[in-house]
Amino acid sequence: MDKLAIEGGRTLSGEVRISGAKNAALPILCASLLAAEPVNLENVPDLKDVRTMLALLEQMGMRAETSGGAMSLDATHVDNPVAPYELVKTMRASILVLGPLLARFGTATVSLPGGCAIGARPVDQHIRGLQAMGAHIELAHGYIEARATRLKGAHIVTDMITVTGTENLLMAAVLADGETVLENAAREPEVGDLAHLLVAMGAKIDGIGTDRLVIQGVEKLHGAYHTVIADRIEAGTFLCAVAAAGGDVTLRQVRPHTLDAVISKLREAGVTIEEGDDWLRVRMNRRPHAVAVRTSEYPAFPTDMQAQFMALNAIAKGSAQVVETIFENRFMHVQELNRLGAHITVDGNTAFVTGMPALSGATVMATDLRASASLVIAGLCAQGETLVDRIYHLDRGYDRMEDKLTRIGANVRRVSANAGGRA
Ligand code: EPZ
Repeated sequence: MDKLAIEGGRTLSGEVRISGAKNAALPILCASLLAAEPVNLENVPDLKDVRTMLALLEQMGMRAETSGGAMSLDATHVDNPVAPYELVKTMRASILVLGPLLARFGTATVSLPGGCAIGARPVDQHIRGLQAMGAHIELAHGYIEARATRLKGAHIVTDMITVTGTENLLMAAVLADGETVLENAAREPEVGDLAHLLVAMGAKIDGIGTDRLVIQGVEKLHGAYHTVIADRIEAGTFLCAVAAAGGDVTLRQVRPHTLDAVISKLREAGVTIEEGDDWLRVRMNRRPHAVAVRTSEYPAFPTDMQAQFMALNAIAKGSAQVVETIFENRFMHVQELNRLGAHITVDGNTAFVTGMPALSGATVMATDLRASASLVIAGLCAQGETLVDRIYHLDRGYDRMEDKLTRIGANVRRVSANAGGRA
């Protein structure tokens, strides 16, 4: 398994171009199932999860052409509405094919996603919403067997705010017969990006960006062109890296207003951040102040930035609490940060962080995507070398992070297991 070797103690300076958003690209790839015409995308990030989703769609019969960040997807010849366990077990977001398959083909066989490191992550809201739209759903042998002659519009209120639940039901509703109202809908920018693509494909959706989506079903959708929005979590991760390691970095091709909660917390920590239309400049030349964080749904502080902020608080002046309200087990990075010399204790969904003047490099293990990013940030400011193992977790959601970090002055290199040494 590949590792990242990080020599800490260097400040960061220069420019980083932020890639397209993983959590927009994944539902958007699935939305191409809804039309029998090509959907042409730009700014698709080069990530393991995107390649996995593409493989899942191609084994259904999707025809795809990719060139750099451009991708053309043609679902005209899709004839195998099945998402097998072998692929679904590697990426939970595969559940996002359920709504579009049902909407377009009236049938779907999708493996139930297993649990994952950060929580049980059930899909009961996806299933309940589709049943409200008339789908007949059976759970058997680890699979969701769904059938519907034609989905009917329904008034759905999800029990909690669910990002992919909202996206699945939205993709089901656009071809349903009649009006669907999704109450308590997720407002994450990635949901809005999916909705904008669906409208470009001919869907009728009102309330985009709000917690109440009203969809008038149509008979069919057509092809479209769409550029995937910038990844706000990748951008936030780099903001935290500079806040922790120090330096002066400009992020290009970002959407600052999608990061308001993160930027506000970083300013509270003493970081200087300038905002442009599509760029952010982050400067830090001293030890940050510890900042209390409580994760919640958008537009509040995102759970996907919690681990990165834990790394920042680990080296900050003072102490702070980090409260995780979305997932029940998203503190896997704590023990690994403590191996680097952090002082963090956990009680239920609250972590108590006492900032230390310095961390010391060590071998640590990544456990999930954002925990990996947290360990990289900690490694950038630890004394000596930090070796982050199992960085396949990192590769799921970051497009060549080590290259981007090296270009702004970090001493980071990938050590490939099969190369038996320095990469
Ligand atoms: C999406 O996951 C993101 N993934 C996650 O990003 C992100 O952390 C999460 O939203 C929260 O913002 C993608 O978009 C591909 P949820 P999702 O459904 O949709 C419970 C990353 O690092 N729930 O909003 O799976 C659930 O257990 C990843 O990029 C149910 O109980 O999250 C959780 O406690 C990690 N039943 C809460 O709701 C359901 O049917 C929110 O989950 C659905 C969800």
